[in-house]
Amino acid sequence: MALFRVSSNKIAELNQILPLANLAVRNLTDASTDLKHVLAQKIPKEQERIKAFRKEHGNTKVGEVTVDMIYGGMRGIKGLVCETSVLDADEGIRFRGYSIPECQKILPKAAGGAEPLPEGLFWLLVTGEVPTDAQVAALSKEWAKRAELPAHVASLLNNFPSTLHPMSQFSCAVTALNTESKFLKAYTAGVHKAKYWEYVYEDSLDLIAKIPVVAATIYNNQFRNSKSLAPIDPNSDWSANFSKMLGFTDPQFIELMRLYLTIHSDHEGGNVSAHTVHLVGSALSDPYLSFAAGLNGLAGPLHGLANQEVLNWLNKLASEIGVDASEDQIKEYVWKTLKSGQVVPGYGHAVLRKTDPRYTCQREFALKHLPNDPLFKLVSNVFKVVPNILLETGKVKNPWPNVDAHSGVLLQYYNLKETNYYTVLFGVSRALGVLASLIWSRALGLPLERPKSMSTDGLMKAVGYTK
Ligand SMILES: CC(C)(COP(=O)(O)OP(=O)(O)OC[C@H]1O[C@@H](n2cnc3c(N)ncnc32)[C@H](O)[C@@H]1OP(=O)(O)O)[C@@H](O)C(=O)NCCC(=O)NCCS
Repeated sequence: MALFRVSSNKIAELNQILPLANLAVRNLTDASTDLKHVLAQKIPKEQERIKAFRKEHGNTKVGEVTVDMIYGGMRGIKGLVCETSVLDADEGIRFRGYSIPECQKILPKAAGGAEPLPEGLFWLLVTGEVPTDAQVAALSKEWAKRAELPAHVASLLNNFPSTLHPMSQFSCAVTALNTESKFLKAYTAGVHKAKYWEYVYEDSLDLIAKIPVVAATIYNNQFRNSKSLAPIDPNSDWSANFSKMLGFTDPQFIELMRLYLTIHSDHEGGNVSAHTVHLVGSALSDPYLSFAAGLNGLAGPLHGLANQEVLNWLNKLASEIGVDASEDQIKEYVWKTLKSGQVVPGYGHAVLRKTDPRYTCQREFALKHLPNDPLFKLVSNVFKVVPNILLETGKVKNPWPNVDAHSGVLLQYYNLKETNYYTVLFGVSRALGVLASLIWSRALGLPLERPKSMSTDGLMKAVGYTK
């Protein structure tokens, strides 16, 4: 049974919306608005809990590995610990036990807003507790305070050629930010490993605070004639500040950003970006280097870049056939894509086997705010035809849409049109999940990751294959 702690004023609300069979709700353990303090209380208890568990079950088997799993990208192999979220193939992601609709209900919102603040999600991911409004406000302030970039990173960003993809600019800038790493300095000075997590925590907060500035600088340099950034408002939230730095002040767009930055944050531990950050971090590379490595993985078209690919694919469809293409015309276009050896971007998933709830909540946002948008209608019509076609191919394990099938159309509606920027937004959000995990990886003293690989000859020998 999972134990999650929430503030007392949330409990009545929770009792109404959550199926409590699997959820024991407890009072907030600590009302402090200092996240590091709250975390510091939890870590020793969690270390002890895991120690006792491993003592009793260290040799208990939890699965089997087949030859196909080894050749098949390790699908289904249980080989990682990730505390922040768990992905159920049918139900989708749960952040510390809470589904996306539940998070939309229980996490604190901005005044007058309806979508969760990503600060609250981060607090939840780090502590397992639903934060109070005051805790979330403290985090907004903390991130605003830490946002400034060192001069060499600003200058690096300002000197990138416009031909360099925004994701490459993003990962270069994050790598160069490691001049600021407190973990690196502490490690070099010989700090005891029991204290590693504290420095990873500090770096993570600094990094989360600074990446919207990095991301907005990339956007303004590339698409707004190097316009200078709107100043950070210390009384505003992370998403509102980010949106304004990008030049978007429409309150609805800011709400979209709050939702967007919440739902793209975490997808358990095995996806390319999360796993990469964990892997690189396990070598005790600092959080900047680890996160930059994860961004490079996110920049792949089968992972985060799919959101750019979807929009380009939809735009091409609209320009070739028309945005009001009929279902038959869309079918023909999908088959053309498949026959040319391409994937249909935004569909399929390595773990999920149903429609991604991240797709569904974005669809609900669209139904509420832009129900008559022609591109949204096209996305809806694509949804009607693609799953059956993918099923017809006989090989696609999950024919349903994922998060990337929907995100771009919302951005287009609010005039964020530059598709090659979309994955940067994903990256800003992904920092919340992977850095929350990185803090815990060091808190739990997880070792250098080093799975065993085998040659084909070695594998054949191991299973007695002699042909
Ligand atoms: C996400 C993805 C990489 C998962 O890959 P996977 O776990 O290997 O998926 P499957 O096991 O279903 O793949 C089996 C086959 O179906 C194909 N397939 C899967 N999704 C497909 C799609 N959307 N369009 C066409 N073919 C697809 C695979 O390429 C593979 O073909 P192959 O045997 O010829 O190599 C894959 O579904 C994909 O490429 N989707 C499009 C890109 C995308 O949206 N990525 C974002 C994911 S959040």
